[in-house]
Amino acid sequence: MEITRVNGLKGEITVPGDKSISHRSIMMGAIADGDTEVTGFLMGQDCLSTIECFRKMGIEIDVSPDIVTVHGKGLHGLKEPAGILNVGNSGTTMRLISGILSGQPFTTTIDGDESIRKRPMRRIIEPLTRMGVKITSISNNGCAPLQVSGEYRLKGINYVSNVASAQVKSAVLFAGLYADSETTFTEPHLSRNHTEIMLKSFGVNIKTSGSTCTITPGDGLHGHKIYVPGDISSAAYFLVAGLITPDSEIVLKNVGVNPTRTGILTIAKKMGADIELINETNIDGRLSADIVVRSSELKGTTIKGDIIPFLIDELPVISVMAAFAKGKTVIKDARELKVKESDRIKYMVNNLNAMGAEAEGTEDGMIIHGGKPLHGAVIETANDHRIAMSMAVAGLGADGVTRIPDYKCVDISYPGFFNTLELLKH
Ligand code: S3P
Repeated sequence: MEITRVNGLKGEITVPGDKSISHRSIMMGAIADGDTEVTGFLMGQDCLSTIECFRKMGIEIDVSPDIVTVHGKGLHGLKEPAGILNVGNSGTTMRLISGILSGQPFTTTIDGDESIRKRPMRRIIEPLTRMGVKITSISNNGCAPLQVSGEYRLKGINYVSNVASAQVKSAVLFAGLYADSETTFTEPHLSRNHTEIMLKSFGVNIKTSGSTCTITPGDGLHGHKIYVPGDISSAAYFLVAGLITPDSEIVLKNVGVNPTRTGILTIAKKMGADIELINETNIDGRLSADIVVRSSELKGTTIKGDIIPFLIDELPVISVMAAFAKGKTVIKDARELKVKESDRIKYMVNNLNAMGAEAEGTEDGMIIHGGKPLHGAVIETANDHRIAMSMAVAGLGADGVTRIPDYKCVDISYPGFFNTLELLKH
């Protein structure tokens, strides 16, 4: 894929459905009683991996272009899969499914691609073991493949996590559905709360206070209709593209704006972005809005602390925004970037510098001296969808040609990304 400078991105687009919500709709639908009908589901590879895993455990899932129907079999309706469960590239699938498997009285092996086999799993092994599950890293390195021997009844725990992670929180809450008493989970900073919101809509008793939530096991989940808004993590690429290219005005339709996901909007505004939210709606506690974005003069800022979990997946494209801003941007408290689909600090710093930017990686983030003119380069994505899309955005504001050889990895979260980009060009 080759990207060149653009002058003026214009038009209205709808980004694909939210990845976090799509995964959860399949998982909770599978262990609910009755059918769950999902509209706006993200047909990206990660979410398709989740569908395949549940089909292997006997759940019928009908997929049509507009609607996905999950025929739930109740909390105890999953059957032992014939072979391993393959999560592909999806950390969300691996960690969340481990919580559900913890409550199934059979043994399962879960594995995935090369990237998944490097991602830390001790963070779920530890709390799930305390709940009474036998869960081991088969290679004994704290990573996949994992073997999970579940129990019909687990122990409720009070767990204090040292990492702010919605995936860890969700694994523990899912296991909590199978526990003999309440389970409480506390994290250092609140992470995205899609699991809590969706469990509530399935009829589960779950209470939250600050960065603590408590789940009380009850008589199960009740299938219903779920509407998935557009993914703000996918909208983020066009948001930044609109800001950094001259003479642009883009309307991003129907984007999920759950406050635990909108850190990028807060930071972009602080950097001087011209962004407006219109047509705000709330369906079942899921907020969405149309976002209007116009070309802006940006200035550097500091990004740290509580806001980090609210923009963790957007930091690669935020670092691109920083490279186009005047002055210095400092990103701190984002050590987690190193253990995503790739080491996102390393790859973003290397790629930005290859294009002529001045970026430096730190232990827990990056320092970017913005405003240097960028030129095309060959991008190394490490097969990480978010690196590929972030660097494509950088290419829109650079001289010469930016080449992304393994651009196909965008299909993990945003099939059609490059077609949508073409639609906005004039
Ligand atoms: C996700 C949580 C985040 C995020 C990931 C999706 C989720 O991961 O980076 O892309 O759907 O729960 P962590 O929980 O590891 O921070």
